[in-house]
Amino acid sequence: MIRIAIDGPGGAGKSSVAKLIARDLSIIYVDTGALYRSIGLFILEKGISPTDRAAVIDQLKNIDLKLKFTDRQILLLNGVDVGDRIRTPEISMAASAVSAIPEVRAFLLDTQRKIAKKNSVIMDGRDIGTVILPDADLKIFLVASPEARAIRRYKELCEKGVETTYESVLSEMQERDKNDSTRDVAPCVPADDAIVLDNSSMTLEETAKKIELYLQLAQDTKKSRRLYMFFRGTLGPLVRFFGRVHVTGKENIPKNGGMLICSNHIGAADMFLIAATFPRQLRFIAKKELFSIPILGRLIRALGAIRVDRKGSNVDAIRRSVDLVRAGEAVAIFPQGHRYPKVNPAETKLQNGAGLIAYHASCPVLPVCIKLKKNAYAPFRHVDIIIGKPIPMEELGYEHGSTAEYREASNRIFGHVLSLGGFAPTALPSPDEHEH
Ligand code: DC
Repeated sequence: MIRIAIDGPGGAGKSSVAKLIARDLSIIYVDTGALYRSIGLFILEKGISPTDRAAVIDQLKNIDLKLKFTDRQILLLNGVDVGDRIRTPEISMAASAVSAIPEVRAFLLDTQRKIAKKNSVIMDGRDIGTVILPDADLKIFLVASPEARAIRRYKELCEKGVETTYESVLSEMQERDKNDSTRDVAPCVPADDAIVLDNSSMTLEETAKKIELYLQLAQDTKKSRRLYMFFRGTLGPLVRFFGRVHVTGKENIPKNGGMLICSNHIGAADMFLIAATFPRQLRFIAKKELFSIPILGRLIRALGAIRVDRKGSNVDAIRRSVDLVRAGEAVAIFPQGHRYPKVNPAETKLQNGAGLIAYHASCPVLPVCIKLKKNAYAPFRHVDIIIGKPIPMEELGYEHGSTAEYREASNRIFGHVLSLGGFAPTALPSPDEHEH
């Protein structure tokens, strides 16, 4: 069973995109807005104002709504197909008004949940990810600029022969946005774990493909999560005990949302120590060679590591990392690109990858410093893992994204890592010292 929630303001293309995806994946598309629209239609036909709460609530007992799915969704209002009668601007406003009434929302809750219980669905609305399907496999909050949305809606209405102007569609849209996002009950806001996708400059097909990619990533992660959490739960305490690990700054780890974790790199153990320290699954960027080591290779693949070919092109690894972070995952990278045992990290070279991923994924970066005596692992040697506060994007000095900016951002990120551990370049001997 697959459950996809698509929320967002009117005109962001939710229904068109959801229909495409439903067709691609052979699952049911549920347009929940049609339920609110049908109540709006019923209320207007009764000559009642949709803002008259008491009167609307009083009418609910006279409303019976049934959804049927053939090649499209059919909505029966008291046994009669509402068809396109619910698609007028007047009904849009009425639907928005009645949807702000908690009793109306409660009235429609079961209908929506029951459909998702029995079928694989892609459901669109305003509160699907937050209220109706809080456990959805994928939650997308689709947005687009008001102008882009108004143009799309205007064209749609013109094609249906509805007489209107772009200006009136835009102002209605802005009014509805305000109603839907500021109402007290189930306001139209993204769930904490939703992916916010702005499709202002994307076509319908591009948007659908992106969402299908996010679904695939979410399903891959789900597969590897079990194993990852099993290892974390069993090996984690052992690693922490025998490694004599001391962690500071754990409270700085964001619970949700995409992020990039950057740490200094001393040895192969770094990956396991960081994984054992973090309460959420991390997707490590690991060099290609590790994947062909017999047991380790299979293990890191199963745990969801991202393969990078340091000699070839890194484009695929970077793209995958960006997609994963955008999809709300935590990706971990070692900006130095190599292990540097017994070397002061303040004196090593850096790669651009961290700056590049943070720019394209537009995400917070979490600096982590691993500190141990002589910068080298040894049995029972005490290890400090220091987790800094997330570095906001604004601090990384991006303007329009260029190689120089990625390099500078990687430097700034690594600067945070170094300062967590109190690392600085070894001072050059002063001229005086030379003379003696
Ligand atoms: O998606 P739509 O334009 O058909 O929705 C019509 C109205 O119904 C919209 O103004 C907000 C409301 N709505 C809602 O509050 N919750 C939903 N799940 C779907 C729609």
